Amino acid sequence: MEVYLDNSATTKPTPEVIMAINRAYTEYYGNPSSLHRKGLEAERVLFQARREIASAIGAAPEEFLFTSGGTESNNLAILGFLKRSRHLNKLIATTKIEHPSVLNVFKKLESDGFEVAFLNVDSSGVVNLDEVKAVLDKEPVLLSVMMVNNETGALQPIAEIAQLLRSSGKKTVFHVDAVQAFGKVPFQVNSLNIDLLSISGHKFHGPKGVGALFVKKGVGLEPLFFGGNQEAGLRSGTENLPAILGMNTAAEQTVKSLTEDIAKMRSLKNRLQEEIERNIPDIRINSPSEANCAPHILNVSFLGVKSEILLHTLEQDGIYVSSGSACSSRKRSISHVLQAMGRSEAELDSAVRFSFNRFNESAEIDYVVDRLQNHVAALRKTIMGDRKWKR
Ligand SMILES: Cc1ncc(COP(=O)(O)O)c(C=O)c1O
Repeated sequence: MEVYLDNSATTKPTPEVIMAINRAYTEYYGNPSSLHRKGLEAERVLFQARREIASAIGAAPEEFLFTSGGTESNNLAILGFLKRSRHLNKLIATTKIEHPSVLNVFKKLESDGFEVAFLNVDSSGVVNLDEVKAVLDKEPVLLSVMMVNNETGALQPIAEIAQLLRSSGKKTVFHVDAVQAFGKVPFQVNSLNIDLLSISGHKFHGPKGVGALFVKKGVGLEPLFFGGNQEAGLRSGTENLPAILGMNTAAEQTVKSLTEDIAKMRSLKNRLQEEIERNIPDIRINSPSEANCAPHILNVSFLGVKSEILLHTLEQDGIYVSSGSACSSRKRSISHVLQAMGRSEAELDSAVRFSFNRFNESAEIDYVVDRLQNHVAALRKTIMGDRKWKR
């Protein structure tokens, strides 16, 4: 049996997505900037895709740019905005649990002379609203907070922060990394006070290397690179139309049955969590409780068992999971997210992330629990014999 539970790292494209990509390569191979019929056809389907995906998040087509993925969208949002606002206050703010494509940009900006506030999270991984309030009082030029944390699934209080911003009357521009949220948490940018928002195709069964950035009307950005002025001059380079059309199909399929899919993923996640809690001693759940958690991520520490060893043992049974943040790099690194949540070394060393998609089934969960139970017990026995280990 093969059970893929690493959907936060990436998802498998659906057959319809592959068909859309194929069709783009065979029929819409023209350059959308060309003046002849092939170009106009490509431009038409590009516009249609822009309108459709933009409307899925409540944006207007002219507020929606295609990029090469979540990393580029985050970089363009932060750096592009700061290039425009360089004459303003030098304070910028983010949280300690962002994806490296946000966190490392802020670290670089700090070394370049910006004053950066890295906001704390509580032990469940949710940002502290009092800290947000305190930093907003100082009116940073930019605040960036992710909607769903990619390691734990912790839902951040985006609507509350947007409301705080609105009522404070501050001019702070609000960027949201929604890469793990689209297709898992319903949201509409037009009903939230969000200025910039990033998504990525391969996290919702679309192709890799394509994403988008919502830029609210009136928010000024400068491009990061220069060329043929595609994407309203903000992202030069011939559009990757096959990937864009693939992502559009993926988005369409994702929003179609969102409510049922969210309920399904949540019930699979709850089942896995309950079975782990019932059958495996000495574990710690690192994902927050249901009200504060996305439906598709469960992070668990199996104390005494190194996460990488467990990952490779499960792999031999056809089960694919992740240790820490696999989508950032292969290098072994301690999770900055779990660290920010104050987890102990033993908990950091043994954390495994299970992440679901809408196609997973409960029989897969039962299989995973059975294998986990065996492997965790065997690995603990090998390492510790009959001794008890410490938290
Ligand atoms: C929260 C978050 N932001 C950004 C990214 C980067 O997206 P991409 O892989 O499309 O560059 C990822 C995943 O890798 C992510 O989980």
